[in-house]
Amino acid sequence: MVNICIFDAYGTLFDVTSATRMVANEEEYSNFPNHSVMVSNTWRIKQLEYSWLRNIMHEYIDFWQITKDALDFALEENQIKNENLRQRLLDVYWNLSAYPEAQDVLTTLKANNIQTGILSNGSKEMLNSAVVSANLKNYLDKIISIDCIEIYKPDPKVYEMVLDQFNCKKEEVLFISSNGWDIAGASKFGFTTLWINHNLIPKDRLTFMPNKITNNLSTIPNILKELNE
Ligand code: LAC
Repeated sequence: MVNICIFDAYGTLFDVTSATRMVANEEEYSNFPNHSVMVSNTWRIKQLEYSWLRNIMHEYIDFWQITKDALDFALEENQIKNENLRQRLLDVYWNLSAYPEAQDVLTTLKANNIQTGILSNGSKEMLNSAVVSANLKNYLDKIISIDCIEIYKPDPKVYEMVLDQFNCKKEEVLFISSNGWDIAGASKFGFTTLWINHNLIPKDRLTFMPNKITNNLSTIPNILKELNE
């Protein structure tokens, strides 16, 4: 019986593209729109690449420093030297917007006595800020940051944290992520997995595939019902 929903944070509950999109609309940064999509894409992939490479090299630094390093790479790649713009992008990222359906789906899950949590590479401070600013704190039973083990996803030790924190078995957990590689890691670990394909991108060519696929968080309660039939 699945009765615990564990969410990835960045890209799943929080829209990582919203930071550059918001700042690109601000008058002070009128020429940023020409670069904002390229900066956003490079920022995200470099953030993830650095987390995977630092895992392999055993060179941990926290996800906020990785996020800053990745942004610096992306801005330099686009020949942008603007400290105000850099700081503004970081400030917005610190309080990222949640997807519009996030609060409603968490409210429904809690009303149905489902336990909810976040499992994220994000540092404790990053996650707390994002959860509070998106007004999701009251709908999450636990917020689990990899900070305390200093190992990034998709290492199995990360997913193991859920069993410890919720004192549960793998079979009780539905793991929800927009990242195909994160889904592969969680599926290999033994969780039932739901891939949130927000942007209708191709499936990753990895050994483990999601149990269920959707493009919107609001379908989760019905998917849960199907899984528990
Ligand atoms: C996280 C990133 C990987 O929240 O999306 O863990």
